[in-house]
Amino acid sequence: MFITFEGIDGAGKSTQVKKLRKYLTEKGHEVLTLREPGGTVVAENIRDLLLTSKHDITPIGELLLFSASRAELVQNVILPAIESGITVIADRFYDSTTAYQGYGRGIDLQLLRQINSIATFGLEPDITFCLDISPEDALIRKFSEKSIPLAFDESELDRMESSGLAFYQRVREGYLKLAEDEKRRFVMLDAGNKTEHIHDLIKQRLAAFYPDFFR
Ligand SMILES: Nc1ncnc2c1ncn2[C@@H]1O[C@H](COP(=O)(O)OP(=O)(O)OP(=O)(O)O)[C@@H](O)[C@H]1O
Ligand SMILES: [Mg+2]
Repeated sequence: MFITFEGIDGAGKSTQVKKLRKYLTEKGHEVLTLREPGGTVVAENIRDLLLTSKHDITPIGELLLFSASRAELVQNVILPAIESGITVIADRFYDSTTAYQGYGRGIDLQLLRQINSIATFGLEPDITFCLDISPEDALIRKFSEKSIPLAFDESELDRMESSGLAFYQRVREGYLKLAEDEKRRFVMLDAGNKTEHIHDLIKQRLAAFYPDFFR
């Protein structure tokens, strides 16, 4: 079973991944949680380059770095885990590339489909939970998380986070379009709800989609 979480920065993905991991582990499942980009030594190095680098990276360079990190993670970690029956929960996967590099940065979606398929060796999530929130509300969450005062210092934000509200608005709309295109596996959730309520909805969806597995 391969479950992914998507949504703009600050939507609450990591919070839900943690709760779902605890829930499934308590039910007796073997669970592996992963965060993109990263997850192998090489992929973590690429993560540093992508998130903490103060240097400009071209949109195509950024796309290929995210994809290189993903290929490392899929081949070395995700595929072997799924093959041995482990439930893998990923905090971001290739839908992030479509939303951020495609809808956000404007890279051709057809090209992205090809690159995503190369980087994942054709692996697709069984189910994707996408947390929907406005960029403004997400930013407020990030502020309170990092204790950044409202008149904040931009150097507190990572390279992706400092891309601006208009960028995040495009990314959010990208996720909404993805939900239309990928109806089979995409579950859109209102991230404005309370953490516990969102967690309950996720459990309900999983139980409905996979009654045997989540009994
Ligand atoms: N449903 C919720 N309601 C209110 N606050 C929330 C909710 N879910 C998460 N938060 C808070 O919002 C902040 C961002 O949450 P979290 O780190 O889970 O988001 P994220 O999507 O993983 O962000 P990033 O993409 O930056 O990793 C945290 O401070 C978290 O405690
Ligand atoms: Mg997170």
